[in-house]
Amino acid sequence: MSKGDIYKILKDEHDNVKELFKETIETGNTSKFPEIKKQLEVHMANEESFLYPPMEFVDEEMIKKNKYEHELAWNKLLYLDNAQSDKDWMENMKELNNLIIKHVEREEKELFPKASETLSEEAEEDIIKLMEEEKSTRM
Ligand SMILES: [Fe+2]
Ligand SMILES: [Fe+2]
Repeated sequence: MSKGDIYKILKDEHDNVKELFKETIETGNTSKFPEIKKQLEVHMANEESFLYPPMEFVDEEMIKKNKYEHELAWNKLLYLDNAQSDKDWMENMKELNNLIIKHVEREEKELFPKASETLSEEAEEDIIKLMEEEKSTRM
């Protein structure tokens, strides 16, 4: 483990889920939705539990925006999960995709660089451990 690994892990998760969205929207095949839902839920919960709290002290406004975007995403996921036969389902999926693209860009451009300046290598490693633990129980 070295300084900055945490942001690479999180960015890989972003790229992974973006790929699944792209596939779903391009093919119109909804079969990857459960995977998208699970990946996003675990990723967002991990950020909210372990990365946002220490950064809240550094930039409250930024974290507020990020949390708000997560909230929109949680709501959209809930809708999508419950409305799989709805004719607007794919439209809503596209809206969630746009939201996620905007959100992960904000994290990668604002949050991660700021966190990298703020958190020590030890703090980052602790966060990785906590996140990995959570992933191993939920995925
Ligand atoms: Fe996020
Ligand atoms: Fe993220």
